[in-house]
Amino acid sequence: MDRTLPPVIVPGHPLTALAPMQDVTDLPFMRVIHHYGDPDYYFTEYFRVHAHSRLDGHILRSITENDTGRPVFAQMIGESVTDLVRTTRELRNHPVAGIDLNMGCPAPKIYKKHCGGGLLRDPARIDRVLGALRDNIPGLFTVKMRIGFDSTETFPVLLELIRKHGIDLLSLHARTVRQGYRGEAHYDYVRQAVETVPCPVLANGNILSAGRALRVAAETGCHGLMVGRHAIRNPWIFRQIREAFAGDPVFRPTLGDARDYIERLYHTTRTGGCPEKLHVNKMKKYLNFLGQGVDPEGKFLYEMRRTRSEAELFGVCDRHLLASPEKLFADEPYEGVLARPNCEGPAVREVAG
Ligand SMILES: Cc1cc2nc3c(=O)[nH]c(=O)nc-3n(C[C@H](O)[C@H](O)[C@H](O)COP(=O)(O)O)c2cc1C
Repeated sequence: MDRTLPPVIVPGHPLTALAPMQDVTDLPFMRVIHHYGDPDYYFTEYFRVHAHSRLDGHILRSITENDTGRPVFAQMIGESVTDLVRTTRELRNHPVAGIDLNMGCPAPKIYKKHCGGGLLRDPARIDRVLGALRDNIPGLFTVKMRIGFDSTETFPVLLELIRKHGIDLLSLHARTVRQGYRGEAHYDYVRQAVETVPCPVLANGNILSAGRALRVAAETGCHGLMVGRHAIRNPWIFRQIREAFAGDPVFRPTLGDARDYIERLYHTTRTGGCPEKLHVNKMKKYLNFLGQGVDPEGKFLYEMRRTRSEAELFGVCDRHLLASPEKLFADEPYEGVLARPNCEGPAVREVAG
């Protein structure tokens, strides 16, 4: 079976990927990103694997109905080797580009079960899991992991296991599990990975903008960039990264463009007759990120979080985004907004990945 990575959109460019994000990177969200500029690869949010698990139908749709034209990798998270192997067989009946193992999830309910980020505490278990999966995945087998659990001491051992088991692509979130989603990403470990493992390495963690992508690629020699939260804030980011690497002028969205994005997001992600109030609450999860690029004082975020209906939500959007629609949407999150207490909304606090 072919284990060559699927071609990138612009040959010779570092590859880009949308990071897997639970409750975010489903089919409707991928369709929204497709509209503004695809990454080279998509990853599903994780399929939770246990003794009684079956492939989750909602997540599966992002594979079976994928109409972005770009390959999608299926991510799994689980503890039992037998169940993980069974799940890879089920996934292989579907048009997946490859199968990805989550070795980074920092949620205590996950890592306490020795899966996700919890695996990083137990290299002997990783050895067994990767060995069994490699034997059962004839196609592309990829791993997404962090640089360690609470320290980076075992990082060289982790890299050796990636090498030993012939992993085809490594996405490295350059933080420890203990760091969660905060603090600096340590890109020097990405460079170490690039220098050590034979497979391509994607740098992940705080790729805020095309400018940051260029810098991280130059500093680490990585083969590509994986972007999560900053693609929710700025869905143009993959297009911008391509433009920046080509040395072309980089598209700068305005507040008016951000208003259009919200409209598209609202209608595309409202599925299955979701009640209005529930959908408005779901929108707040995305807008907690988008709002970091609207105004430095965080007024949009403050008012948006208090809305209870579609009319109220779009009223706030119109006041803040259409008063000066030609004003530029911030390229990177406003620092003042990030420093505010409670600025990180539910989408960050409830993170499971
Ligand atoms: C809401 C949310 C859900 C996530 N779910 C997953 C997941 O299912 N699988 C996974 O490997 N990582 C998950 N992550 C982690 C991201 O893939 C990524 O590694 C992390 O957010 C750092 O990248 P960023 O700074 O570009 O967001 C999640 C992150 C967020 C914010």
